[in-house]
Amino acid sequence: NPDIFLPPQVAWATGALAGGPLIRKTTRLADLPGIFANSEAWKCGDPQQSVYDVDVLGSPVGEGALFVGVTHLHAGRVGDEFFMTRGHFHARREQGEIYFGLRGVGLLLLQTEAGDARLEQVTAGSVHNIPPFTAHRLINTGSETLSSLAVWSSIAGHDYAALAEGFVLRVFAAGQGIEVRHD
Ligand code: 6PG
Ligand code: NI
Repeated sequence: NPDIFLPPQVAWATGALAGGPLIRKTTRLADLPGIFANSEAWKCGDPQQSVYDVDVLGSPVGEGALFVGVTHLHAGRVGDEFFMTRGHFHARREQGEIYFGLRGVGLLLLQTEAGDARLEQVTAGSVHNIPPFTAHRLINTGSETLSSLAVWSSIAGHDYAALAEGFVLRVFAAGQGIEVRHD
């Protein structure tokens, strides 16, 4: 029926987006110098290894317009530290964001401008309301890819420089479990 628009689709089980214009950005180990605690272990890794892929549906940009995308954060570690995204504040600090866990297990690390940090457990179906003025990073603590759907303002932008000193929490594998270390 020509009156009915067929929208893009997300496959809930995998986070795969299809049926619309898609832009993929792959972030590799080589793109993440200074992010992981153990720089020697980082140097020993394969620089071409993909750490995460972000797929964003092409859509209009401007005040009030929203983006939707999926981050696929692969399982892995640098030394004992779990793979994670670079993490950022939004350039427009007042812009919040919504994350939904789709598959895999991990943590969402949130940190305020005052440096107060907390962790939310990410699992299939989890809903995360990232407040304004709050930096965010995904951490994959599992053995499969962690995929998370996000909705955010098209004018939010990214400020990576504000976190040049890193977040105040790091998450490591310890035996079969995890260990949270405070810097
Ligand atoms: C955003 C979202 C999200 C994020 C990716 C990659 O604001 O665009 O939070 O799409 O960009 O998960 O994380 P980094 O941007 O920190 O590399
Ligand atoms: Ni964001």
